[in-house]
Amino acid sequence: MKQTRTAISRISLKTTPIPVPLNFLRETRCKGRKFRAAGVVVDMIKSKKMAGRAVLLAGPPGTGKTAIALAMAQELGNKVPFCPMVGSEVYSSEIKKTEVLMENFRRAIGLRIKETKEVYEGEVTELTPVETENPMGGYGKTVSHVVIGLKTAKGTKQLKLDPSIYESLQKEKVETGDVIYIEANNGAVKRQGRSDNFATEFDLEAEEYVPLPKGDVHKKKEVIQDVTLHDLDVANAKPQGGQDIMSMMGQLMKPKKTEITDKLRKEINKVVNKYIDQGIAELVPGVLFIDEVHMLDIETFTYLHRALESAIAPIVIFATNRGRCIIRGTEDIVSPHGIPLDLLDRLLIIRTLPYSRSEIEQIVKLRATTEGLQIEDEALSALGELGTKTTLRYVVQLLTPASLTAKVNERTIIKKEDVEEVGSLFLDAKSSAKILTQNKDKFMK
Ligand SMILES: Nc1ncnc2c1ncn2[C@@H]1O[C@H](COP(=O)(O)OP(=O)(O)OP(=O)(O)O)[C@@H](O)[C@H]1O
Ligand SMILES: [Mg+2]
Repeated sequence: MKQTRTAISRISLKTTPIPVPLNFLRETRCKGRKFRAAGVVVDMIKSKKMAGRAVLLAGPPGTGKTAIALAMAQELGNKVPFCPMVGSEVYSSEIKKTEVLMENFRRAIGLRIKETKEVYEGEVTELTPVETENPMGGYGKTVSHVVIGLKTAKGTKQLKLDPSIYESLQKEKVETGDVIYIEANNGAVKRQGRSDNFATEFDLEAEEYVPLPKGDVHKKKEVIQDVTLHDLDVANAKPQGGQDIMSMMGQLMKPKKTEITDKLRKEINKVVNKYIDQGIAELVPGVLFIDEVHMLDIETFTYLHRALESAIAPIVIFATNRGRCIIRGTEDIVSPHGIPLDLLDRLLIIRTLPYSRSEIEQIVKLRATTEGLQIEDEALSALGELGTKTTLRYVVQLLTPASLTAKVNERTIIKKEDVEEVGSLFLDAKSSAKILTQNKDKFMK
């Protein structure tokens, strides 16, 4: 779960300048065809009918392609890995193009591992480190062992544990009243949350409350872990480990391996397939989102096509705003969206069209709400009107400066005059281009 969350947090870093409102897909899904199409894809992904397939979002700039893809990620939730990238990312002077692609491919494939473990589980009723004089002499005391009381619905048990477990307890910040489990064979501690019994303890709910565990304190428990294939690659490429998942993959560990090689990946796939066959693990195909896909070249397209064909593949979502253009890396092969025809043939294509005036108003309103800005209806319709003449991006960008002029005029609500003022201050791309052509001779060549 932790891993998928890092994948999600990558989104905000890399592709979206402003976050998309959380439930916008649900809100807008029934309103336009492209949202319905995106909704169908999300449903297909959820019902696992999409693996190895690819979708292309194609349409002019500012028609919401990136926004739709990110909204799809949010709809899928944090249990489904989502890896966003931009086509141009493959061009790095240090890493091979195909290597970048393969790594992101594996970031987008999740593995849910179910293991039955022998654990001690319960609500912590007591947590006492027992100290003794330092046997090495000198000052200070050392913890000789720790006494911990665990309570379940069925009973309580007091355990006397090794001091090393006390360290893990401290690392997980375990306090009395928390529900935890300790693995019997290696002493790993996992804090699951605060016990329900303390649910009314604080006003602000920063905590996750969990019910008091049923059954005995000492028992066999099914433990679920979500990782991506990339996590497994990294874990096994490192010289040493210590984390849990690595112990599972321990058979692959060879000391001093630091590079993720094709061979290592193949070995990991083998083990993963074995686990899947044995019913220990389940594959969770996630989504690899490649924005500005026309930036890829013929070599990476070919590689991608082959990778899509392999047994373990994520769902790939492409987005582009290009029409017919030359495929990068070729002399003169022109193809729709700059994508080779054979790959294009595999794709489900969702066409995005420019937003209508009322849709623009709706989006601007959503944006204003998420940014905590108040805006008058008149100002909103002025922005809508401006949006049809310029672009959605432009009017969305006007919101912040408009709120600033409102503030200068000691208002908290954005009025039409603010919109007009900032509209005259900042140019949109079209007017700027027009001015350039009109005053060609005044600019440097
Ligand atoms: N349905 C929507 N709800 C909320 N915001 C939206 C929606 N559609 C688009 N936006 C916002 O409009 C702006 C432009 O949309 P987006 O970036 O998705 O366009 P795009 O189609 O990816 O354009 P380009 O081809 O230039 O990459 C963004 O700021 C985005 O957050
Ligand atoms: Mg985009």
